[in-house]
Amino acid sequence: MARSATPPGPRGHLVLGNLREVQRDPLGLLRDGFREHGDVVRLRFGTTRAMLLAHPGHIGHVLHDNHRNYDKHNVDYTMLRRLLGNGLLTSDGAFWHRQRRLMAPMFHRQRVAGFCNLMVNSTLEMLERWDALAQSGEPFDIAAEMTRLTLTIVAKALFSADVSDDAEAIGAALTEVNRQLGEFSLLDMFWMIPTPRKRRFRAAVQTLDEVVGKIIDARRRATHRNEDLLSMLLDAVDEETNKGMTPRQVRDEVLTLLLAGHETTANALAWTWYLLAQNPKAENKLHDEIVSALGERAPSALDLPQLRYTRMVIEESMRLYPPAWAISRNAIGEDEIGGYRVRPRTSMIICSFVTHRHPSFWEEPERFDPERFSSERSQRRPDFAYLPFGGGPRICIGNAFAMTEAQLVVATLAQRYRLRLMPEHPVDLHPLVTLRPRHGIRMTLHPADDAAAAETRGRAAR
Ligand code: HEM
Repeated sequence: MARSATPPGPRGHLVLGNLREVQRDPLGLLRDGFREHGDVVRLRFGTTRAMLLAHPGHIGHVLHDNHRNYDKHNVDYTMLRRLLGNGLLTSDGAFWHRQRRLMAPMFHRQRVAGFCNLMVNSTLEMLERWDALAQSGEPFDIAAEMTRLTLTIVAKALFSADVSDDAEAIGAALTEVNRQLGEFSLLDMFWMIPTPRKRRFRAAVQTLDEVVGKIIDARRRATHRNEDLLSMLLDAVDEETNKGMTPRQVRDEVLTLLLAGHETTANALAWTWYLLAQNPKAENKLHDEIVSALGERAPSALDLPQLRYTRMVIEESMRLYPPAWAISRNAIGEDEIGGYRVRPRTSMIICSFVTHRHPSFWEEPERFDPERFSSERSQRRPDFAYLPFGGGPRICIGNAFAMTEAQLVVATLAQRYRLRLMPEHPVDLHPLVTLRPRHGIRMTLHPADDAAAAETRGRAAR
């Protein structure tokens, strides 16, 4: 194919390109684009050229093999920078590299193992609060509960902070910024024009700033030091300049970790309960594993290898509903992908929601089947066919933290309960920065080992 070939793509408006479709239904645009045009799809948002990449080989090229040619200086990350500043998720180049090296030890597997008790105890505290809900049988929003839980865990683990009093304010602010970052408006391009939408965005950022400010101030005033990530950030000294991080930089890193470290895991957990409730066979298998690995005892770090099926359920849930459903990069220089020319400043879109359903790599892609993640079947899959945490040097720094947390939360909760969906409650995808359930997920609590479940288990075994 000629090097100058342009990939096929959906026709768009003469001036706006595919901007209206991406505003109306971003996931639909990408899913249909792949279905109709294949592995490389041409898109345009106003004056911004974009390319959707669905093939694992092409994704690996951008995130890994030729990653130096791709940075985060595109419109998505510019928007995110208005919230997070120049933290680990949004920074680039030598600066990003230094910050990543500094923080990486905090996220090593051994270090994460030290957070297991905290993860389990926070879940048990939540379950105490749930006693009344279990008795009344009243429906509740599992997505909101998981968000509260993962926020509590990340704040305690990384910053030794109790943010429970601020949980609602953080939740509301996050919903506002998530919606605005996800539902791009043309007026956002002209950041200086004041609109009610922008005032709401700034107010939400201010709320989050106040929470982060409180965490940092409390630490600066504290007489004893905790050996946590916050101390590491406050004590870090640049080898070249011999200077510490500016207050603004500490704010950016703390806010980045507080937000990136809970919203995604909460979504992964909420979708996991949703899927388990609809798949009794998998749910029973999960309960059997938990009973045989733990009995009535609370899980610890040592139990993680025995909770293999629990892990496979979470992996399959993130395949169908990847919390970070799309990521993007900006092409710095010329490149070629799949025989097509990539011009500088093209926005490269990688949509795990699409790639996780690619029929060349996933049989019956819409079916929930945790067995896909047995070690044997996982080994046969090419790199980047499954990428809930991204890949290459910018792979999620918190991936071990998130998987450990999700495994422990699922095991601790499933020891006591099964969750059932409210039949009339609509569950729709809301693809913002993260993939949220649009109206939450309303569920009710039932004892883990009730008679009906035992009966279903008997039927499934027959
Ligand atoms: C299920 C949970 C999670 C999912 C699905 C997830 C997903 C991702 C993805 C896809 C990226 C790559 C973004 C890109 O390449 O543009 C990323 C980066 C990142 N994540 Fe996560 N994440 C999760 C949990 C966490 C946790 C628990 C933390 C911290 C405690 C965290 C902190 C970060 C940070 C700081 C980055 C930027 C890393 C860098 O660029 O060096 N994430 N995450």
